[in-house]
Amino acid sequence: MQSSALFTTTCRVASFPSGGAITLRRSKPVSVVANQPRHPSHHHKISHSMPPEKAEVFKSLEFWASKNILPLLKPVTKCWQPNELLPDPAKPVDEFMDEVRALRERTNGLADEYFVVLVGDMITEEALPTYQTGMNSLDGVRDETGASPSPWSTWIRAWSAEENRHGDLLKTYLYLSGRVDMVMIERTLQYLIGSGMAVGWDNNPYLAFVYTSFQERATFVSHGNTARLAKEGGDPLLAGICGTIAADEKRHENAYVKIIEKLLEIDSNETMLAIGNMMRKKIIMPAHLMYDGRDPHLFESFSHVANRLGVYTSNDYADILEFLIKRWKLEKVEGLKGDGRCEQEFVCNLAPRIRKVQERADERAKKMDKQGLKFSWIFNKQVHI
Ligand SMILES: [Fe+2]
Ligand SMILES: [Fe+2]
Repeated sequence: MQSSALFTTTCRVASFPSGGAITLRRSKPVSVVANQPRHPSHHHKISHSMPPEKAEVFKSLEFWASKNILPLLKPVTKCWQPNELLPDPAKPVDEFMDEVRALRERTNGLADEYFVVLVGDMITEEALPTYQTGMNSLDGVRDETGASPSPWSTWIRAWSAEENRHGDLLKTYLYLSGRVDMVMIERTLQYLIGSGMAVGWDNNPYLAFVYTSFQERATFVSHGNTARLAKEGGDPLLAGICGTIAADEKRHENAYVKIIEKLLEIDSNETMLAIGNMMRKKIIMPAHLMYDGRDPHLFESFSHVANRLGVYTSNDYADILEFLIKRWKLEKVEGLKGDGRCEQEFVCNLAPRIRKVQERADERAKKMDKQGLKFSWIFNKQVHI
């Protein structure tokens, strides 16, 4: 999406010695042997990049997290549940079947390419075991017992439990719609969970919470856009479903953004280094290793369609970055050391550069012939980008 030259650095970044050089993009298709999970072609080697003494920062924030982060979770009884937004199987069979029939009719106005994006979003949600595993790899906040009462662990478990409803709801809706090949979707999901994700957290909660701040907002934006398109396509109930999920993502975004805001207040240099580090690596979507057993470029193909439909675009990426810069008041952060100031300058100037590169890429794309992409998820039908 963006030129890697954008992300190279002349700064010396003390805490993350090779941060600027890391890229996780696949440079070529990875050969796939049946049943063997795929891995990115670039394995980066940093792990546990947070200095051990920084674990104390998270320990000292436990009271703060209990008071400021845990309240952003909703009590279970106040949460929506997938079955409340779907045809009700407890109704008499005719009524249930009528509801299913109506659901299927409502999707008639939605194009196949819309379903490609909705499936990709659903698969991203459904790979939740990977994200909970990732959170539990983080030094200083991981759930040490599996049922630890620490607020960080409580958050990780309850956040996962909230997220779990997103994939359940979308998957059931897609199943009932009859518009998609559920076996190929389920296969993709099994491959994806088997592959994991490699987005450069390095077991470091500073890095991970920068990533999740960005990522929750990205999912808020994309579910908001699938809601808008569903409404325009004549399916207000699906619009409601996507909008309901988007509202959860917004609440999650708020929590992670608050954590980074607090870290900037008490440990500005380390936090600024973490923001710079993640932005140099680029925020790679969590389902970047998706594969259906056929298309080695499935994630790129899905991303192209999402970009073309305006569900998640390069401009959204730059918008999110600008939103976070403003929200965290990054231009005004004081007390930084030389390396922190360098990252501050880099991050605060990045969005316009991303937009410029993207404009050039869009110009080039306009001159190219329309491309057809086939997706197994929609019975190998072709969509045009
Ligand atoms: Fe979600
Ligand atoms: Fe979320």
